[in-house]
Amino acid sequence: MCNVSQNTKADSLYRPVLCRLEAVRELTPLEKNFSLVRLDAEPFGHRPGQFVQVSVFGIGEAPISVASSPTRGPTLELGIRKAGTLTGALHKMGPGDEIGIRGPFGTCFDLEAMRGNDLLMISGGCGLAPMRALVQYCEDRRQEFGKVTLLYGSKTPQDALYKEDLAHWARSDAIDCRCTVDEVLNCDAWQGKVGLITRLIPPLEIDHKKTIAVIVGPPVMYKFVISELHNKGMTNDDIIVSLERHMKCGVGKCGHCTIEHLYCCLDGPVFRLSQVAGVKGAL
Ligand SMILES: Cc1cc2nc3c(=O)[nH]c(=O)nc-3n(C[C@H](O)[C@H](O)[C@H](O)COP(=O)(O)OP(=O)(O)OC[C@H]3O[C@@H](n4cnc5c(N)ncnc54)[C@H](O)[C@@H]3O)c2cc1C
Ligand code: FES
Repeated sequence: MCNVSQNTKADSLYRPVLCRLEAVRELTPLEKNFSLVRLDAEPFGHRPGQFVQVSVFGIGEAPISVASSPTRGPTLELGIRKAGTLTGALHKMGPGDEIGIRGPFGTCFDLEAMRGNDLLMISGGCGLAPMRALVQYCEDRRQEFGKVTLLYGSKTPQDALYKEDLAHWARSDAIDCRCTVDEVLNCDAWQGKVGLITRLIPPLEIDHKKTIAVIVGPPVMYKFVISELHNKGMTNDDIIVSLERHMKCGVGKCGHCTIEHLYCCLDGPVFRLSQVAGVKGAL
């Protein structure tokens, strides 16, 4: 796993680097995608799975996962839900506005372990934002991976993030992309599956000896998805999870993000399941 000491430049550890919003795109009525660049035009140096601390000046900071792959150039993309004060202020901003970024912070998805193996990505709700960085990475380095599968579940078809990307991946030969929704409202013209994301796992042909699974989604999802993966013969060593905790500093100083002995901002947010399976309160 990579972490802050390896790829975060010293200038962005404690002091936000000035960035300009290049584009803001609505994903759902609650979520928007923000594309930004550093004013000094330097790359952010992130890896899929890491997060940044976003500053809105005069308001504060919030940790947000990076939703784009470093293989896509110097622009950073963030998929952000309007949840409260800071994210509400961000949602009022547009192209040309300036924000601050500290980071990237935290561990990333273990690309070294994934190389040469099959990859099964399972995400729910807002979990598609960090997963998108990994999917894009796989698209751009497709020859490095075996079979690549993406499962995504949202509450309703309207709640799905990155609908255009999902449609593109569903058409692509490079990725086996399967989506489901918890429920369909009367007005939905949804032709896909209805039911919890766990129902997408039993029909899959998984070679558990050469598959790495990655799970990112709401806390309620993990236990049931992990149980289905165990049914397929997968072990905790071959399952990667990303955990979200309240964070302040992002660099292991304040203790806000601890789960027993683990610092979610430094030891995580990306963990092997074997690292956290016995840790109280982790899952
Ligand atoms: C590693 C990490 C990655 C994240 N990635 C994303 C992302 O890609 N997209 C996204 O939309 N959100 C993400 N979040 C959650 C995001 O940080 C919070 O929604 C944000 O901090 C809320 O800030 P606010 O000032 O708008 O809300 P506040 O006014 O501070 O609070 C509004 C509500 O949000 C809750 N909240 C505050 N902080 C967090 C938190 N850290 N985790 C969960 N709930 C919180 C509060 O309890 C409250 O209910 C991530 C969180 C972490 C720790
Ligand atoms: S957020 Fe401060 S120690 Fe992790």
